[in-house]
Amino acid sequence: PSNNRDSFGSKFGVIAAAAGSAVGLGNIWKFPYIAGVYGGAAFLFVYLGFILAIGIPIMLSELIIGRSSRSNAFGAFKVLAPGTPWRFIGILGVSAAFLILSFYGVVAGWSLQYIMLSIQDGFSSKTPEEIASLFSSLTESTVRPVVLQLVFMLLTGAIVIVGIKKGIEKYTKILMPLLVIILIFLCVKSLTLDGAKAGLEFLFKPDFSKLSGDGILSALGHAFFTLSLGMGTLITYGSYVQRDNNLLSTAFSVTIADTVIAILAGIAIFPAVFAFNIAPTEGPGLIFITLPNVFHQMPGGFVFSILFFILLTVAALTSSISILEVVVAYFKEEFQMNRKVATVLATVLVSMLGVLCSLSMGVLSPITFFGLNIFDLMDWISANLLLPIGGMFIAIFIGWIFGRKKVQKEVSYGGHLSGVLLSVFMFLVKFIAPIAIAIVLLNKVGLLSFS
Ligand code: PHE
Ligand code: NA
Repeated sequence: PSNNRDSFGSKFGVIAAAAGSAVGLGNIWKFPYIAGVYGGAAFLFVYLGFILAIGIPIMLSELIIGRSSRSNAFGAFKVLAPGTPWRFIGILGVSAAFLILSFYGVVAGWSLQYIMLSIQDGFSSKTPEEIASLFSSLTESTVRPVVLQLVFMLLTGAIVIVGIKKGIEKYTKILMPLLVIILIFLCVKSLTLDGAKAGLEFLFKPDFSKLSGDGILSALGHAFFTLSLGMGTLITYGSYVQRDNNLLSTAFSVTIADTVIAILAGIAIFPAVFAFNIAPTEGPGLIFITLPNVFHQMPGGFVFSILFFILLTVAALTSSISILEVVVAYFKEEFQMNRKVATVLATVLVSMLGVLCSLSMGVLSPITFFGLNIFDLMDWISANLLLPIGGMFIAIFIGWIFGRKKVQKEVSYGGHLSGVLLSVFMFLVKFIAPIAIAIVLLNKVGLLSFS
C-alpha cells in the first residue's frame, strides 16, 4: 500500500541480505559449540533433518507473509488476518529479537576483542593453556565485555539507521564470499592436524545413543536460530522483496549457504579440538579457544587470524542488523516513528539488556535461573522456546489460514510453481512442521517422553 517503503534493489541483493542474516555467529560460534555439547554427528543429523523438513518450509512461509503483506512482523498479520489474535505472533517475534540481540552482541564483542588480539599478535607466543585462560579472563572481566558489546551495538544501529538499500544490502554483498574463502583455508589447515580423523568421526559418524531429549530440542532450536526463523526476520525482509523474485529459490539458496557454512565451521574446528586436547563440550568458548591454536600453527596465521575475526564480526553484523530491523520496522510502522528515532530507541533498549548479558559470566554470574546465567538464559529461551513456537504458528498460519491458492500465487509471480512441490510444501506446513515442533516441545515439558 505505502509507496515510500524501502525495497531491495536486486535479486542478488535479496539473497545476499537474507543469507547475510542467516549466516552469522550461529554457524561459526554456536553450531560447533552445541554440536560439541550434544554429541557431534548425532546432533548434526537431527539438525539437518529439521532444516529440511521444517526450516525450508518455514523460511518460505515467512517470505510469503512478508511480501504479500508488505508489513513488519506484527503488522503483517494485521493485514493478512485483520481483527484476529494472529498479530500476537508478531509480538512474540519482537520479544525474541530483544533477547537474541542482547547475547548476540556480547559474542560479537568477543570477536571484536579477538581482532585486536590478532593484530597485536596476541596468540603466537601463547600456549594452549594461556589461550584458554585469556578467554575466561576476557569474559569474566567487568568493563571490557560491556564496552565491546556497546561498540558492536553502535555499529549495528549505524547500519540500520541508513536503511535497506544503502545500508543492509550494500555491506552484505561484498563480505560474505570472503568469509567462505577464509573458512575453506582453515578447513584445509585443520585437516592436516593430528586430530583430523577423530574430529571428522566426531562430526560425521553418528552414535544415536548419545542423543537426549535436550539434544533434540537444541537441534530444533538451532535450526530456527541459524536460519533466522520464527521471529519475523524473514517476514520483515520479505516485505522489502519485489515481485520478480522467486521466493522458493531464494529460500533454497539461503538454506544451502547457511548449512554449508556451518559444516565448514565444524570441519575447521573439530580436528583442532582433538589435536589440542580441548573438550568438545567446552561450551560458548569453544571456537575462541580452539581457533587461535590453529592460527598459531599455520603459516601466515597472523594474517589469517586478523582476517578471520574481522569477517566473523562482519557476519555477526549482517545478522544483528536483521534482528534489529525487526524491532525498528515494528516501531516505525506501528508507532509512526521515523527510522532514526526507531533505530536509536531499539538500539538503546537492546544494549541495556546486553549489559546484563555482558556481565553474566563475571560479576553477575551468581544470578542464575534454572542453573543458567543470564547470557545462557536469553539464548535458551529465545532459541529453544520463542523461535520454535513462533515458527509453529507461522506454519499453521500459512497452511491453514493463508492457504494453497494464495501460496501458489505469491511464491512466484513470474514463474510457475509445480503442483507436486506445492503439495509437498503444503503438507509440510500443515502437518509435519507443527506436529514435530509440538512433540519436541511437549517432550521437554515432560508431557511426552522419548527416552
Ligand atoms: N541466523 C543468525 C545466525 O546464525 C542469527 C539470527 C537469529 C539472526 C534470528 C536473525 C534472527 O547467526
Ligand atoms: Na546461521
